[in-house]
Amino acid sequence: RPTLRGAAPSNVRIGTAVDSRLLETDPRYRSTLAADFNAVTPEYVMKWAALEPTPGRYDWEAADRLVAFAEANGQAVYGHALVWHSSVPAWVSESWSPARLREVLHKHITTVVSRYRGKVWAWDVVNEALAENGSLRQSIWLRKLGPGYLADAFRWAHEADPDARLFINDYGTEGRTKKADALWRLVRQLRSQGVPVQGVGFQSHLRADQDPTDIAGNLRRFGALGVAVAVTELDVRLQLPATPEKLVGQALLYQHVLEACLAVPTCESFTLWGFTDASSWVTYHYPGYGAACVFDTDLKPKPAHASLIAEL
Ligand code: XIL
Repeated sequence: RPTLRGAAPSNVRIGTAVDSRLLETDPRYRSTLAADFNAVTPEYVMKWAALEPTPGRYDWEAADRLVAFAEANGQAVYGHALVWHSSVPAWVSESWSPARLREVLHKHITTVVSRYRGKVWAWDVVNEALAENGSLRQSIWLRKLGPGYLADAFRWAHEADPDARLFINDYGTEGRTKKADALWRLVRQLRSQGVPVQGVGFQSHLRADQDPTDIAGNLRRFGALGVAVAVTELDVRLQLPATPEKLVGQALLYQHVLEACLAVPTCESFTLWGFTDASSWVTYHYPGYGAACVFDTDLKPKPAHASLIAEL
């Protein structure tokens, strides 16, 4: 059958988030992953809570297995995510002094990025730094360390791997939104301070009936800041039950996002947040919605798979 990877020009990264449980247990999942994608992002296993459940005792196994799979299948690895308000290990305490918290964060970033130096082409260094209204999210990092945590995180990651492309990643910034305006100002400010923010990731968790405004124009204005851009977590949820008409609408929106990325020279990768309806966070995170991926629960390609291939 035609595959996304087969249709993609050699310079286009077509990626997906990977469910490590299925990677390790489902041969059909593995073969589809290898056949259709030339890039992978760990859906969970490189998050802090997964890597260091107990202070100082790292569990690299699942992440190493994904990296090994990617290397065996000629796939680029996109690291996700170093600093986030979620998936922080329970032992990282709000009651610590700012100095101690900063040192623990420094050690985390340095340890993880150093381990995968040369194996990971890009990192989501800071994920979801903004609140819905465009102000800085009141995460433990902002509250305890102040806005300087952003510059610290990018500088520490850059020291650990000067060749990795360092991204700031967020959602609700895919079109010309107020949050996107705020992100644009933040990236411009950080870069004016010499902070190595080298890429901006647009998660793109979309609803089939909500087409973001001017995706390409938005990507371009970030590109004009001198950064790469990437679609990092695309899924297009449908209000259930799925119908043939809804699946066509979904296919059109998938195609529209890919068209925008391909139209912008600095758009370096196009990544889906999972490729099968059998494993999608949408089921849990958006009650009443689902069927968000390009393969169905039985790993059969949906109209969106064909529409992406038509665009490549
Ligand atoms: C989600 C995963 O898909 C879930 O399996 C997990 O339980 C929670 O995190 N934005 C992000 C991703 O950057 O890390 C989130 O992934 C989805 C929203």
